[in-house]
Amino acid sequence: MATELEGLLRPKVSDAPPYPAKFMQLANGETMVVRSVERDEIPLLLEYVQPLIKVERDFYDIVAARVFAELLGQYVHRIQDQYVLIGQINGELATIVNGRTLSPGIGVSLHTIALRRGLRIGAHAFAAKMEYHMDYLNHKEVMIVAESPIGFRRFLVEYNLEKRPQVIHELGGVPSYALTKETFEKARGTLVVGRRPVPKDLLDKAKAEILPPSDPPVMAQDLLAASRSVYDSTGSALRGLRSKQEGRVK
Ligand SMILES: CC(C)(COP(=O)(O)OP(=O)(O)OC[C@H]1O[C@@H](n2cnc3c(N)ncnc32)[C@H](O)[C@@H]1OP(=O)(O)O)[C@@H](O)C(=O)NCCC(=O)NCCS
Repeated sequence: MATELEGLLRPKVSDAPPYPAKFMQLANGETMVVRSVERDEIPLLLEYVQPLIKVERDFYDIVAARVFAELLGQYVHRIQDQYVLIGQINGELATIVNGRTLSPGIGVSLHTIALRRGLRIGAHAFAAKMEYHMDYLNHKEVMIVAESPIGFRRFLVEYNLEKRPQVIHELGGVPSYALTKETFEKARGTLVVGRRPVPKDLLDKAKAEILPPSDPPVMAQDLLAASRSVYDSTGSALRGLRSKQEGRVK
């Protein structure tokens, strides 16, 4: 009976072509491998994403909370047709991106999160997932939304995405933007980088173990330093932090 019920709750997995791993050189000379993850690697990703849920900076908190839920959904079979790609530098987790197939020909971009800053790691990972949607899943369009000003600039502006106000995105219920095959082709030459196949020793190292991020985003010392506080009209988060720092509350 329990097994039967599980069969009803569990989404039927559709066949999807694999994402062929690629590698690229970053602006600082380091090499990043982008590859898909196996289900048994998800618990480790959950461990690395969890602390970011508390990082009230550049919208890491909301994005990490949602990524955590989607990864868990993947692990316990509660999300339909999702893929998860990661970027690793020397084995270390540098970025996670995910999305899914909504219907034949239509993809949904879920999240992009960079665990090391300042190297366009998130931008490269986003490009990799668009490449997966277009070149491998053969989607005609990918529905996209931004949850942060940096994400808005990186994805909606850099790719010059088209507005689709009539299509409500499953992420937060807001109107979508769309990446079409045409907009992707315009971006391919400049924004999509990386080479294949990944040399065996590099791929083996990446697959051997996903190491923890060495310099993950953390809470700003003072929220005035965080871009997000500019938009915090109540200032409550800043006042709370100051009270804590001054020992007025524990
Ligand atoms: C959006 C995101 C994926 C982009 O990743 P990225 O391409 O690697 O870019 P970074 O975040 O490193 O850099 C973005 C900007 O932050 C600034 N920045 C660089 N290093 C930084 C650092 N150490 N700390 C804070 N900001 C930094 C830079 O000025 C950069 O500006 P640029 O656009 O002129 O290059 C990443 O910022 C992120 O994960 N944000 C939180 C989650 C999120 O918003 N996801 C997207 C939802 S739509």
